[in-house]
Amino acid sequence: MGAVESKRIAVIPGDGIGMEVTPEAVKVLEAVCVAAGKKLAFTHFDWGADRFLRDGTTLPPDAPQMLQRDFDAVLFGAMGDPRVPSNQHAADILLGLRFKLDLYVNARPCVLIDKRLTPLRDRTERDINFIVLRENTEGAYAGVGGNFKRGTPDEVAVQEDVNTRKGVERIIRYAFEYAQRKGLKRVCMSDKSNAMTFAHGLWQRVWAEVRKEFAEIESRHLYVDTLMMEMVRDPSQFDVIVTCNMFGDIASDLGSQLSGGLGLAPSGNIHPGKVSLFEPVHGSAPNIAGKNIANPLGSVLTAAMMLEYLGWPREADAIGGVVRAAVREGKTTPDLGGSMSTRSVGDWLADRIAKHGLAGAGA
Ligand SMILES: NC(=O)c1ccc[n+]([C@@H]2O[C@H](COP(=O)([O-])OP(=O)(O)OC[C@H]3O[C@@H](n4cnc5c(N)ncnc54)[C@H](O)[C@@H]3O)[C@@H](O)[C@H]2O)c1
Repeated sequence: MGAVESKRIAVIPGDGIGMEVTPEAVKVLEAVCVAAGKKLAFTHFDWGADRFLRDGTTLPPDAPQMLQRDFDAVLFGAMGDPRVPSNQHAADILLGLRFKLDLYVNARPCVLIDKRLTPLRDRTERDINFIVLRENTEGAYAGVGGNFKRGTPDEVAVQEDVNTRKGVERIIRYAFEYAQRKGLKRVCMSDKSNAMTFAHGLWQRVWAEVRKEFAEIESRHLYVDTLMMEMVRDPSQFDVIVTCNMFGDIASDLGSQLSGGLGLAPSGNIHPGKVSLFEPVHGSAPNIAGKNIANPLGSVLTAAMMLEYLGWPREADAIGGVVRAAVREGKTTPDLGGSMSTRSVGDWLADRIAKHGLAGAGA
């Protein structure tokens, strides 16, 4: 018999409901491993508000190198705690990992798994199935800027929009390669090059060059204001949307509402071929933390994204199937209209996989 296929996962639950939903995702992954005869070796890290308040640690200096050396992927919960109003630990840990691991793709699938969950009238599962690929390391979030005459009536605030040739090209190329890999036909690039002529003029020039290499894929450009309108008017026209850091932040939150809300939305912070970090889109939700009512499905679908990235598509599909089954059968937390707790949803998913195996667990 050959060696059991195995991957090493760093688990960072973080704060608030991150500490409640992440264990449920791990529970489901463990059930998948038993059903698949594979192994995931989990190592937990306590980085978050409690640790920061205890000893001042945010992201240990050697953490990025250690994660790159010792792990295949990171499963992340959420950061944010009312006891740390500056959010310093969250910025150091999450933004630190995104930048230091150079996780330049923020992938946010927006997939409607049950038509009852979309606020759009007469839209079904067939209409809402796209992905937003957001540039994740530059743009307006690069932290370049400053204040002049701060606190005076003459104050000046500058936040630079940083766009590099390399950064723009690699995210646009990733979008086309993603479409190719998934057999998708349409890539839409969105910017605001009519107003941000320098920064997004670069996006336009790179886009014009790269799209020529992928002639078999229908490529289209929309200004971001038009993109927002079109996503609501007719989301079925999109397969892959690629855009800058800030517009991707906004477009993906809109997409998550169209496809069932924050409780269901997964994401990946990816550098192809390197250790990448997977997290639900939602934050630490202090308003419901500690009550065992947070929806764990976003974290569970995040775990599925991670498995797909690690090259386990069958296992990832099985998780997608069992989550669909839970939603259809009403085995959900109150935010989706159910009456189950965080832990009992996780138990239900894991039991279903244990009983039915990978192929039979879905809806
Ligand atoms: N990636 C991250 O770690 C991340 C992302 C967003 C916000 N945050 C942080 O989280 C904290 C709270 O931010 P917020 O309230 O703006 O956003 P949030 O996503 O934590 O919560 C927004 C609303 O959605 C609800 N919600 C979120 N996830 C849910 C789930 N799984 N199940 C049921 N309901 C859910 C919350 O109860 C709340 O009403 C802040 O400190 C913020 O900085 C962190």
